[in-house]
Amino acid sequence: MKPIKVGLLGLGTVGTGVVRIVEKHQSDLESQVGSPIVIEKILVQNKDKARSISIDQHKLTDDVWEIIHNPEIDVIVEVMGGIELTRSYILEALSRGKHIVTANKDLMALHGPEILSKAQEHGCDVLYEASVAGGIPIIRTLIEGFSSDRIMKIMGIVNGTTNYILTKMSQEGADYSEVLKEAQALGYAEADPTSDVEGLDAARKMTILATLGFRANVALEDVDVKGISAISREDILYAKRLGYEVKLLGIAERQDDYISVSVQPTMVKRSHPIASVNGVFNAVYVYGEAVGETMFYGPGAGELPTATSVVADLVAVVKNLKLGVNGKQEKIAYKEKKLKTDEQIASKYYLLLHVADRAGVLARITQAFAEFEVSLESVLQQPNPSNPEAEIIIITHDANKASMKKVLNSLEDMEVVKTIKSVYRVEG
Ligand code: NAP
Ligand code: HSE
Repeated sequence: MKPIKVGLLGLGTVGTGVVRIVEKHQSDLESQVGSPIVIEKILVQNKDKARSISIDQHKLTDDVWEIIHNPEIDVIVEVMGGIELTRSYILEALSRGKHIVTANKDLMALHGPEILSKAQEHGCDVLYEASVAGGIPIIRTLIEGFSSDRIMKIMGIVNGTTNYILTKMSQEGADYSEVLKEAQALGYAEADPTSDVEGLDAARKMTILATLGFRANVALEDVDVKGISAISREDILYAKRLGYEVKLLGIAERQDDYISVSVQPTMVKRSHPIASVNGVFNAVYVYGEAVGETMFYGPGAGELPTATSVVADLVAVVKNLKLGVNGKQEKIAYKEKKLKTDEQIASKYYLLLHVADRAGVLARITQAFAEFEVSLESVLQQPNPSNPEAEIIIITHDANKASMKKVLNSLEDMEVVKTIKSVYRVEG
């Protein structure tokens, strides 16, 4: 039984987990694939850095070509992160016939089609289960589990940092900036949290999920993105009073063959299963035409959960090696991408307005909705002793995005509307 030799690019959080799992589960892995799996070489930036696991120093290298040009290495596991440099390493490795396992959502969201087509050209596997929702096997589920169905909607809480912040704001009534600082101190949020809080990390993950769910190449530019940095304590409070939780949701929808993908703070009815996903946990809700509602829940990041997905991909590559079927997967994105226009994107909306507190104001506001054929589900005026203006909360029925934009423009032009404090999509 010839060992399968693996080159590991990166020995940080995920790389360390990969080494731990391969060592700890070696005999089970060998039973499953019929060969020992050996981590032959590990690329790091700094060979002298203290590590939390004991590693044979001879395995460490800071020269990537020692791995990519090593004819003995069959599979490369990329857990170093980054985009352009990593892309060039992976393309070179593929051209040398190496199979790739990666946890890199940034790379797969931006260069997935190029990398997958290079892999096909060279008869190689590229697997990326850990790139979305860390420990939840959602990518294999979308490709294989739902191959017989037609996915109509995917909703994901796919960023743990923002879900942690929103959960704390909801449960403790805390302010956004306070909780962000706490999340940074706990190591959940990075020193520069922009990619997480402005929704870019979630948008990259939704690009990958939408491509797999709708079998069409969705690009990052197709995702309409809004983050959580403008969410106030007041928003969360009103949402709770009305029976909603505010979540940063990735939403990919299909109607006929037209699709839309967005990431945005969304008010989710408390009875919807995704509303109860709290803290750093992730969840992906998938609605299939035949199966109906399903939901997948678990840890979206962290050393061992993420490494579990990485090593499962490694096992899949090795099984394919044994069967001689690497690179033989059917093309995933075989459909033409057709994006919905703003007239085709429909949802319910929540609005919080601060308006002049005098006779006739409510009538003028509701008239703006009527003019653009946006029907209202509920209108509530909240007394607020600390605010001399009236606070009006409106929830619409399903309205298209184009009409809502016209309503908002019209409200902005009204002298009686002092501030449009918040506008959120409503789900559930
Ligand atoms: P990390 O802790 O920062 O580790 C990165 C590793 O790569 C380090 O060992 C570093 O070397 C090495 N490295 C980075 N750039 C390098 C370069 N140019 N040349 C050589 N070595 C380099 O990162 P991570 O959190 O494990 O994340 C790795 C990947 O997994 C990323 O794509 C990330 O998005 C993805 N991911 C992470 C998680 C998670 O929970 N952390 C979850 C899902 C997906 P040194 O050790 O010498 O500094
Ligand atoms: N920053 C990401 C998150 C890490 O908070 O979910 C996992 O991709």
